[in-house]
Amino acid sequence: MKQELKKIQEEFKKQLKEVADFAGLSDLEQKFFSRKNGEFTSIMKGLKELTDDVKKEMGQMANDVKKDLEGLFEDKRLQIQQKEMADIVERESIDVTQPLLPKKAKGHLHPITQAQDKMEEIASNMGFVIEDGPELESDYYVFGALNFPDDHPARESMDTFYISDNTDWCMRAHVSNMQVRLMRKYNEDGTKAVRAAYPGKVFRNEALDATHEHTFHQFEAFVVDRNINIGNLVAVIKELLRGLYGREVDVRLRPGYFPFVEPGFEMDMKCLFCRGEGCRVCKHLGWVEMLGCGLMHPNVLREGGYDPQEWSGLAFGMGLTRLAMMRYSIEDIRHFMSGDLRFLQQF
Ligand code: PHE
Repeated sequence: MKQELKKIQEEFKKQLKEVADFAGLSDLEQKFFSRKNGEFTSIMKGLKELTDDVKKEMGQMANDVKKDLEGLFEDKRLQIQQKEMADIVERESIDVTQPLLPKKAKGHLHPITQAQDKMEEIASNMGFVIEDGPELESDYYVFGALNFPDDHPARESMDTFYISDNTDWCMRAHVSNMQVRLMRKYNEDGTKAVRAAYPGKVFRNEALDATHEHTFHQFEAFVVDRNINIGNLVAVIKELLRGLYGREVDVRLRPGYFPFVEPGFEMDMKCLFCRGEGCRVCKHLGWVEMLGCGLMHPNVLREGGYDPQEWSGLAFGMGLTRLAMMRYSIEDIRHFMSGDLRFLQQF
């Protein structure tokens, strides 16, 4: 037994020397002192079988060895601890003489995307599904399905970009192409109410100036249900604008013509900057033109698969670009698509 103890003592010392970290330390502790099968523990267990006087002597010796080993173990532990602390200090030290590294440029969302996100959030809280649709579109969805007569001037290449002559394919001139698409999508059997909102890019053959671009963004929405009236139309739009501007807005309707609504209106909002007094933003009118709207034309409802005797709808569409211009007092629409970082970094 004496020899065994000596052997374990030697073995422990040898292995302790090789330990370099806390994990190794813990392994070693397990190996020698584990209650279940530690090498030292099993010797202690063996003491029981010895006669009393031998037991006394061996017990004394085993205790001495244990103390010795524990002392060595503790020394090693402190040594490792010190080393790890030193490593951390080394790793985390700051070189105060190093010149400043250039800041990484961090981008952000385009102001129109910001306006679009806000509108989507408000509309979806009001129960509208948010949809996206094709920018290259058939003449049918952009005009024909929306009750535009064949000879309507908007259909001419003077106004709309067709992808080539004698084709029915064009870059959509408004997002209203989604009206009939979405009615058909959500109303397979002609019995379902729909609320949909659909922002997107539109294209027109414009002479460019401070308020006209060939590419801009719109936000449009419609509701199809039973007994929809003009009161509903105004209430829905006011609620959206209230969400957007964070306060109650005043609006007024003027008659407006769009082939896919009847009656149709242009809606103005009382200028938020001057509260109707007249200022630069509202061109001293007190009101700002906001959007086109109306009750859905029976021909359009029919095209979407509804019986207009039973179903009715409201629709309104506004320029997201215009909203962003209002919100940030931007004087020239051409800034938006210019890709000029000096402009974009301001928002
Ligand atoms: N599509 C129209 C436009 O581009 C706006 C509109 C949408 C008008 C819905 C009435 C109803 O000007």
